[in-house]
Amino acid sequence: MPGRVGIITGCRTPFARSGTVFRDLSALDLAKPCVRELVERSEIDPAWVDLIVMGQVVPSVKAPNLAREAGLGAGLPASVPAHTVNRACASANQAIADVASAILLGHAEVGIAGGGECLSDVPILHSRRMAQILVEASKARSLVARLKPFLRLRPRDLVPETPAIAEPSTGQTMGQSAERMAKENGITRAEQDEIAFCSHRDAAAAIDDGRLPPELCRVAVPPRYEVLVDADNLVRRDTTLEALAKLPPVFDRNYGSVTAGNSSPLTDGAAAVLLMKEERAKAEGYEPIAYVKAWAVAAVDPAGQLLMGPALAVPKALERAGLKLADIELFEVHEAFAAQVASNLQAWERTLGPVDRERVNVCGGSIALGLPFGATGARLTTTLANEMKRRSARFGLVSVCAQGGMGFAMVLER
Ligand SMILES: CC(C)(COP(=O)(O)OP(=O)(O)OC[C@H]1O[C@@H](n2cnc3c(N)ncnc32)[C@H](O)[C@@H]1OP(=O)(O)O)[C@@H](O)C(=O)NCCC(=O)NCCS
Repeated sequence: MPGRVGIITGCRTPFARSGTVFRDLSALDLAKPCVRELVERSEIDPAWVDLIVMGQVVPSVKAPNLAREAGLGAGLPASVPAHTVNRACASANQAIADVASAILLGHAEVGIAGGGECLSDVPILHSRRMAQILVEASKARSLVARLKPFLRLRPRDLVPETPAIAEPSTGQTMGQSAERMAKENGITRAEQDEIAFCSHRDAAAAIDDGRLPPELCRVAVPPRYEVLVDADNLVRRDTTLEALAKLPPVFDRNYGSVTAGNSSPLTDGAAAVLLMKEERAKAEGYEPIAYVKAWAVAAVDPAGQLLMGPALAVPKALERAGLKLADIELFEVHEAFAAQVASNLQAWERTLGPVDRERVNVCGGSIALGLPFGATGARLTTTLANEMKRRSARFGLVSVCAQGGMGFAMVLER
């Protein structure tokens, strides 16, 4: 790559179980303080920012361009262009790739990339007929004309439609797909529970020894701003293999192995990273924690093993980086489900060589920390860069599976 893109710093809001501390907020309420904190903590002049890109998977109908509203709300100049991307759980990774591309093309020198998701605030839709009736009524000129369309209303028209975490093309939920992957790849319940156990154990350790807390910003909860949320609330310190083994399967109650314990939970949160062209960073006196070396996306048929995109994206990113899997010293692998992590590791080991599990998700993963869909990629990238610095690791890899059968992989270097 011509020149390099440096990761200056990253931060995120606490990640919270949906319906808890952030239940009255929106993704924008979370993205704003996150971007503001990123700017304040890096002490950049907001006027340096050339663009902001954010990911969001279930956009708000009121503020569909999250990046634009987050930038304005966080105090970036109105002249900073912004766009929002959706590559499912890899959306923030895509945002990082978009900003990195702009820097590499010479279109930008400084950019913010991240994302936000608030599953406490999913849009609940009226039925199509109800919506048509409401639109018709809103256009009517008299009270009688306004009421007339409602005569067509049937009781079933009142049933609301909620978005499902399912593939539009197949109707399969993510959980059902994870179950299928476990069965077809011979991933045992014990292996899945072991991954979940390590996720909680390692996340708790990284919080206690002070590695993760500096990545968090505090969120003062509107409208009164009296409650301050400053910690994740999903990590279960009391998780044991015995307790995990007792949980019933959720997505195939009779023969399944995917449980609430070895799945990622529905989560609210936002995360962002600051990216800078290497020369500009040096000129301004910043030392990037890591550099973007290469990235790749790939896609598989969603009707097959839905969450196997990383099996193809990782070799592609490694090839672009001119590296082998053995060169990677640290891995941040998005844990949608333990069955998906084990399936992707299995695929890499078959084609690329062994993976030292002690180097995977050393600060815990999405099962323990949660996965605000649009934000997770920025969490993974920040944590990887910071841990690479602590360990003086030369190369690290981020891998994310995503709805639609997609996979994203990015190699970082120091
Ligand atoms: C799996 C899922 C359905 C579970 O939802 P849920 O039922 O609300 O889960 P809960 O957290 O309430 O857990 C259910 C039970 O398991 C227990 N449990 C969960 N994790 C546990 C752990 N690590 N150790 C011990 N017990 C655990 C809970 O205490 C709870 O027990 P209770 O019923 O006695 O209160 C939900 O998290 C989900 O849909 N996840 C998938 C998200 C997804 O699709 N991600 C991928 C996107 S690519």
